[in-house]
Amino acid sequence: MKRLVVFTGAGISAESGIKTFRDSGGLWEEYKIEDVATPQAWAKNPALVQEFYNQRRKQALEAQPNAGHKAIAELQQHFDVYVITQNIDDLHERAGSKKVLHLHGEIKKARSSTYPNLIYTVDGWELKIGDKCEKGSQLRPHIVWFGEAVPEMDNAIELVQQEDIFIVAGTSLNVYPAANLLDYSPTEIPKYYVDPNPDLVYNFADIRVIKENAGKGLPDLAEKLIKEFAA
Ligand code: APR
Repeated sequence: MKRLVVFTGAGISAESGIKTFRDSGGLWEEYKIEDVATPQAWAKNPALVQEFYNQRRKQALEAQPNAGHKAIAELQQHFDVYVITQNIDDLHERAGSKKVLHLHGEIKKARSSTYPNLIYTVDGWELKIGDKCEKGSQLRPHIVWFGEAVPEMDNAIELVQQEDIFIVAGTSLNVYPAANLLDYSPTEIPKYYVDPNPDLVYNFADIRVIKENAGKGLPDLAEKLIKEFAA
């Protein structure tokens, strides 16, 4: 089976009702990144940071996978599919994707603020100040904040370097090192970019831009890929 890697961002969850970051009306229009998504924000006002992620956890729990997530999951019948996502929701998993790598963490998990290897599943939507790990230190969201290392980046690069087909969907490619993944993609393989507002400024002459929402663009692309590469 050919290896298909799908690299996704907030846009793929937009049709599930989860806000993106940089679209008009996106999350970063309501909050300042430095107030809610940095280690300094956590040190300065942990309750605000906790509340920001509690709201996002509640939203993620209420959301359902959309046709874009489902199309990627169905491709597993025809390809060896790996999803590399910047998203912290679990909609890929709930749509049926088995191999999902979260570059920026997972909203349903919490970790010790002192012992990063102590990771727990959050019960429900709320993580509170006072919720502690087994060694007594405060639990924080298991999220990669701006300025923190991206531990899964090397694994993601390895997957991209060995892919046969590359799909990028629902990401503005504004955030590094995640956006660097495209530079590791083998030059000769087919690459696709699914986004209704593709302001893609990339030197990949061969990346095929599909100017569609993920909920339509990905099922159509999946049908095409199955005919062309899996029949
Ligand atoms: N289908 C597909 N793409 C969409 C849709 C849709 N229905 N709606 C919007 N988009 C596109 C937008 O055009 C935009 O290019 O999704 C992209 C969303 O970009 P961002 O809001 O920047 O989200 P993302 O690229 O995932 O941000 C990366 O930045 O804030 C950090 O850690 C956060 O993981 C996030 C990272």
